[in-house]
Amino acid sequence: MSGSNYDRTSLDVLFENTALGDRNVENRVGLSPMTRVSATEDGRATSEMADYYAKFADGGFSVLVTEGTYPDDAHSQGYANQPGLASQAHVEAWQGVTERVHGANTPILAQLMHAGALVQYNRYTDEALAPSAVTPKGEQLELYGGDGTFPTPQEMTHEDIETTKQGFVDAAQRAEAAGFDGVEIHGANGYLLDEFLTDYTNDREDEYGGPIEHRVALPRRSAQRSRRCDSGRIRRRCSPLSDESQGS
Ligand SMILES: Cc1cc2nc3c(=O)[nH]c(=O)nc-3n(C[C@H](O)[C@H](O)[C@H](O)COP(=O)(O)O)c2cc1C
Repeated sequence: MSGSNYDRTSLDVLFENTALGDRNVENRVGLSPMTRVSATEDGRATSEMADYYAKFADGGFSVLVTEGTYPDDAHSQGYANQPGLASQAHVEAWQGVTERVHGANTPILAQLMHAGALVQYNRYTDEALAPSAVTPKGEQLELYGGDGTFPTPQEMTHEDIETTKQGFVDAAQRAEAAGFDGVEIHGANGYLLDEFLTDYTNDREDEYGGPIEHRVALPRRSAQRSRRCDSGRIRRRCSPLSDESQGS
């Protein structure tokens, strides 16, 4: 793929094998994380979800990334019927998915997502946390358990930030126990880590706000700490935020 021979208009490159961390995969077609709100009310993955992910693996996709999954039983859940990786019950439920996907010899990563200010339903708390008390734009979706405009979140204390980092680390460990091949930390689309990165949702004047080196601190440290306890396979998703991209 390197050098001047690479033809950017050809789709052939999609079907060439490549390295994914320390393993080879047969093509470059992967499943993007897509929220499906089809877990149980208490966040356990279901056999229908196993069927869904297994279809992509059986169909030849070379890597799958799950829907955004909440890492802790505090402020991270964002939708009704969202799956979690916050408890042993969640681990055991995801094992049914990873086993099916591994049956096709396909790797699967768990996407860990903290909803931040964009909470539309959270069974553990009524309070949303964010880097600063900035009210999100737009309206909540009924499909996600939401209703009306978003409330204004609480500005996170340093203790909240530490708890959140540890939440990602613990969930990365649970992901390993559930049979995942790694995790992707969701740092895009207007959710918590993106709220730290984005200037207009981060008014903080401490070491987590202001210049970009400060704003990347929480996303960077969450990934670094998770890498130490997971098998080392961590990706972080980030994307530029536009007014339209909040909450996908
Ligand atoms: C219904 C739906 C749910 C999505 N859920 C997630 C999600 O949980 N996590 C995430 O990072 N992106 C999510 N996305 C974004 C997709 O992963 C993808 O980036 C987006 O559909 C754009 O696709 P493209 O990058 O191929 O243009 C979702 C998109 C859709 C349509």
